[in-house]
Amino acid sequence: MDTIGNDRFLQAREVGRSFKTSEGLLEVLKGVNLDVAKGSMIAITGESGVGKSTLLHILGGLDRPTEGTVKIDNELLANKDESSLAAYRNRSIGFVFQHHYLLEDFTALENVMIPALILGKDKSEAEHMSELLLKDVGLTDRKNHRPNQLSGGEQQRVAVARALVNDPGIILADEPSGNLDIKTGERLHRLLNDLNKARATTILVATHNKDLAASCDRTIRLADGCLNEIAES
Ligand SMILES: Nc1ncnc2c1ncn2[C@@H]1O[C@H](COP(=O)(O)OP(=O)(O)OP(=O)(O)O)[C@@H](O)[C@H]1O
Ligand SMILES: [Mg+2]
Repeated sequence: MDTIGNDRFLQAREVGRSFKTSEGLLEVLKGVNLDVAKGSMIAITGESGVGKSTLLHILGGLDRPTEGTVKIDNELLANKDESSLAAYRNRSIGFVFQHHYLLEDFTALENVMIPALILGKDKSEAEHMSELLLKDVGLTDRKNHRPNQLSGGEQQRVAVARALVNDPGIILADEPSGNLDIKTGERLHRLLNDLNKARATTILVATHNKDLAASCDRTIRLADGCLNEIAES
């Protein structure tokens, strides 16, 4: 049984986000309340345009809410200025996006190493960690390839390795298989499931994929700016 602290590893309270547009104020999130237990894997579903990416950006400190609060491991993200938020993201949060955002001028190995170097790890340690992770995602023999010399699925696996290099407590994945064919997408889903089980990494994944959602501990559905839990297993 989790302690209360672990049940509320990630806490969102009355999170709102609106955007000023030429047609007026667009209220995307209108009061999201969410508790995520440490080590759980949660799917966020909902129609296109409902605000899943907006929510993941806010939960990961890439964007700030217009209302409400987010706490991760009891740290209030709103208390951090931009530079401490950037350092916090690099240390504690792994992002996997639909588009991988690998740096084109660097090899797969270097792309994975960069967040560790930013954290201050020495080069040999960063290299060692990155090689182990590339092995885990089955890419040892592609480590010296640049992104444009890798397939889409390989690029996405490099992005997963990069997200893990600093051993973050939480992974936020936004349609991670959106650009992949079915088989490659399924392999990526298994990789996320395995990570969640083997390392007890907390994972939130926005997805339209029913199988991936079914493999999660909980599925929550974003609708009309609010979150409603669908089921608990
Ligand atoms: N910077 C912005 N300025 C204005 N509107 C925005 C901005 N970012 C997002 N939106 C709007 O907010 C809404 C939610 O967008 P978001 O990308 O979060 O949706 P989503 O649920 O992730 O959709 P999808 O499933 O298609 O990825 C959309 O209507 C979008 O146009
Ligand atoms: Mg999205």
